[in-house]
Amino acid sequence: MEIRGLSRGLTNYGDREFSLYLRRAFAKSMGFSDAMLERPIVGIATAGGGFNNCHRTTPELVTAVSRGVLAAGGLPLEFPTISLGEPFLSPTSLVFRNLMAMDVEEMIRAQPMDSVVLIGGCDKTLPAQLMGAISAGKPAISLVVGPMMTGGFEGTRLGACTDCRAWWARYRAGELDDLRIRELESNLATTAGTCAVMGTASTMACVTEALGMSLPGSATPPAVHAERLRVAEATGARAVALAHEGVTPDRIVTERSVDNALRVLLAIGGSTNGAIHLTAIAGRAGVPLTLEHFNAISSETPVLVNLKPVGEHYMEQFHAAGGVGALLRELTPLLHPETISVAGETLAERLARVPAYVDRAVIRSAGEPIFAREGLVALFGNLAPNGAILKAAAADARLLEHEGRAVVFRDLADMAARIDAPDLDVEPNDVLVLQNAGPIGAGMPEAGYLPIPKKLLARGVRDMLRISDARMSGTAYGAVVLHISPEAAVGGPLAAVRDGDRIRVSLREKRLDVALSDTEIAARLAEFVRPPVPRRGYAKLYAEHILGPERGCDFDFLTVEGQG
Ligand code: FES
Repeated sequence: MEIRGLSRGLTNYGDREFSLYLRRAFAKSMGFSDAMLERPIVGIATAGGGFNNCHRTTPELVTAVSRGVLAAGGLPLEFPTISLGEPFLSPTSLVFRNLMAMDVEEMIRAQPMDSVVLIGGCDKTLPAQLMGAISAGKPAISLVVGPMMTGGFEGTRLGACTDCRAWWARYRAGELDDLRIRELESNLATTAGTCAVMGTASTMACVTEALGMSLPGSATPPAVHAERLRVAEATGARAVALAHEGVTPDRIVTERSVDNALRVLLAIGGSTNGAIHLTAIAGRAGVPLTLEHFNAISSETPVLVNLKPVGEHYMEQFHAAGGVGALLRELTPLLHPETISVAGETLAERLARVPAYVDRAVIRSAGEPIFAREGLVALFGNLAPNGAILKAAAADARLLEHEGRAVVFRDLADMAARIDAPDLDVEPNDVLVLQNAGPIGAGMPEAGYLPIPKKLLARGVRDMLRISDARMSGTAYGAVVLHISPEAAVGGPLAAVRDGDRIRVSLREKRLDVALSDTEIAARLAEFVRPPVPRRGYAKLYAEHILGPERGCDFDFLTVEGQG
């Protein structure tokens, strides 16, 4: 791609020379010299703000990226996009991922930049930025803000947010009082950065590095580690090189690099959300990622990284243990070594430079995995004709081959009203079923981790089979079947389930079924009515165009196929 700097994509006044003259005049009002305005322009897309704790270090990252851009002969120009701070958005951040992707895509395309650095990290921001940048088609490089450091409480190490959930369950079970849970609350998220465990943000940071869209070694340095700033400087410098080389994301995001990324997603015991996001990212590059292919890769990929929620450690330990580079070396026989990255080298060239050190307490060898294979699998059956997802590696193993009686909640409000009711008819072997929490039903919130009813918590029950069309936070754990598709709100079979039906899940057979005939399911759904489409704004666009989780929950008109 030719370097065009300020003259790229001129504002249309009907006179090109006038447009450039006017643009230069206004650019000069920012104090830039003629020499600076001759340089390749590197846009720096930021997604910070008061509603995003994870991105608190964005200003210093911009400074470091800019330093790298200037040193390499480019002109850095920062621009803001929507910010998605996970716990600050209602009903749930996934609803706005595609809005952010559209913002990123259009602003990269509309503004005169030769390449772009994408600074993000909190759950949906990184996928949104990659989706937008791939569709925009200019050279792009991702820079994550980096993970949080851990805190402590009464001699226990704490990291958001697996520990948030574990301690909340103890509070619900009456093991700690209001005062102690408030004290704990102050120690769960103690620094800038993304959640400290292998949640969605960390998963997507590692997946992005494996995909080749960020620099080698860039996924794991903590947000407050000096290495994070050195990575930022190097990212800025590399963005200038990418502008000269004209390497666009479609050259990097290929069928083979998506497979490498999927291997890493599985080997880190990654978030179930990662399956949705990687599918959407790949879809923007025209690479279909089906759940059948997902299972084929999962069947031969071990879980090697011992991080919460699957294991014991936190991102700071993963970084010190060797990070994504050490993991890639373990996975070498399963990877495509010829794939290229934004660093301008092949994976094979990168792996030849990976230092020998690895901490085996955190990154296991392929011969001694945490989970031999299928840490994350897709299930199919008469309850999920288009598929569902189960994070087997984070579940109580005895529930992975299980049949039980359905206890049904028709939506989130019903669940909130009844889950702790003393008269709820529920036993430990039952299956908790949540309906109408899918993309159309409720924006697909992270509500699939249904709380264990208080009356069972008091009896010492800590895991139950739970099924829904919702998502689950990457930091959560349990025998939880998610992303059931088609969802209940569009008349999927999940909508037909009633209290007392027998539900069966089998990891071995990769099945999720209800003991009902097709005729019975059809009879129960005969009266089904879809919820009305909202009448205006983004909610209307969303309801009319959102695809199912097996298609990455992208909008139909934003995928490569959707472009016709
Ligand atoms: Fe931002 Fe967890 S809240 S990554």
